[in-house]
Amino acid sequence: MKMWSGRFREPLDPFFEAWQRSFPFDWRLLPQEIAASKAHALALEASGVLSPHERLQVAAALDGILRPYGSAQPLEPIGSEAEDVHHFVELKLVEAVGDLGLKLHTGRSRNEQIATDLRLYVRRQIDVTLGGLGDWARALLGQAKAAGHAVMPAYTHLQRAEPVLVAHWLLAYVEMILRDASRLEDCKKRLNFCPLGSGAVAGATLKLDRTIAAHELGFTGPTANSMDATSDRDFVLEFAQAAAALGLHISRFAEELTLYSTAEFGFLDLPEQFSTGSSAMPQKKNPDLTELLRAKSARLLGTAATVGALVKGLPLAYNKDLQETQEPVFEVANTLEGMLQLLPPFTRALSFRSARMQAACQSGFLNAMAAATYLVHKGVPFRKAHEKIGNAVRYCLDKSCELNDLTLDELKQFGPEFAQDFFAAISLEATVDCHDVQGGTARSRVADALREAEGRVGVLMSDYGATRLDDTPQTEPAHAGA
Ligand code: ARG
Repeated sequence: MKMWSGRFREPLDPFFEAWQRSFPFDWRLLPQEIAASKAHALALEASGVLSPHERLQVAAALDGILRPYGSAQPLEPIGSEAEDVHHFVELKLVEAVGDLGLKLHTGRSRNEQIATDLRLYVRRQIDVTLGGLGDWARALLGQAKAAGHAVMPAYTHLQRAEPVLVAHWLLAYVEMILRDASRLEDCKKRLNFCPLGSGAVAGATLKLDRTIAAHELGFTGPTANSMDATSDRDFVLEFAQAAAALGLHISRFAEELTLYSTAEFGFLDLPEQFSTGSSAMPQKKNPDLTELLRAKSARLLGTAATVGALVKGLPLAYNKDLQETQEPVFEVANTLEGMLQLLPPFTRALSFRSARMQAACQSGFLNAMAAATYLVHKGVPFRKAHEKIGNAVRYCLDKSCELNDLTLDELKQFGPEFAQDFFAAISLEATVDCHDVQGGTARSRVADALREAEGRVGVLMSDYGATRLDDTPQTEPAHAGA
């Protein structure tokens, strides 16, 4: 039985009927639909539509509907005649408590229900993502600590630029993660208002205390405008966009590791448990994990664009187009879950070749900037210092040597300011330590930054570290034919 058959004389075209249904994907919102329905029942009790006894009966029946599907054991997906998850719950409820089940639909519309369910779902996925981000950040911090004073070249234009601590490079990703986390938390704050009571478009036709359901579901309060609440999918867009930004960071990390694991760089060994071989070339160890991370981020970007295109130009308020915003949410959630499941253990298993990274810092004039700084300390204006060191580099290039291979006499042809202390000033340690500013790569600054980042990641972990996927059904409920 349809939820809306009264007005119709002709049956639906069978293909259209199957094609427009959302139950094949929105069954994933079953826990949210049940929670929102129980909250609505409370509001109905307060307004006198349900007696306290009826309300208890409905709540128990709703729990009963979820029970077989809430187990962590995936169930075989099979079809159901339900049009969507709202219809499914209604059918099941009537099966359990008869006409009392139909009373639950008093004072509400599927337009507000889907808006509510989807907000609850995105809110939970944000928590799950934040937990995963915290874990990944912790893995990066662990590697940063273990790296100690190990150095690597920093690149600009993919040309060797200056030496930095490996820890400094790793902490750059922690910053990106913390920004991603703040974007997601921000999105959560904005989405956390409850559409229940908005009706189909103009507000419920029943005197409902909207704060009851809002409070019960952990929302900050009810939404302010029924037309906005039933047609708004900003939270989907923001979630998808925040995920896309996160995906970009993951992709850049993946790209760097792919590059650094090549024989040409040789900066790290990819963990075998996260690499694959070639069926043709016996010697190969391929970076499939990082390549797929790079590719999955394209999926996230595409999904954000899809959601934007979906809502662009939709007149207020609800339009069936909005049903199509659900699958992008699931796509983002699935994609992120997989990526964030892999990134922490993968990051922990990375092994860096410190000697090779250090050697890469000792050729190619990575100390030229420190050398110019030396002259600045001797009173030479930076522009002139730059010129003098540039001349010395040119001279070395012709001689195929490095700045520290020059004798003091050779150096003096580029300026009278050079003295014996020049060599200490351009050692690897000095080259790193001369970046002694907040946010710089000097060893003491990186130690401070590490401590500071640990604090911020600690907060993230204490807020979300325990977030685990609950027993949400992973496949369409078996025997769903209600
Ligand atoms: N399955 C629908 C969706 O996801 C639920 C809302 C249906 N509302 C309607 N007026 N047809 O959007």
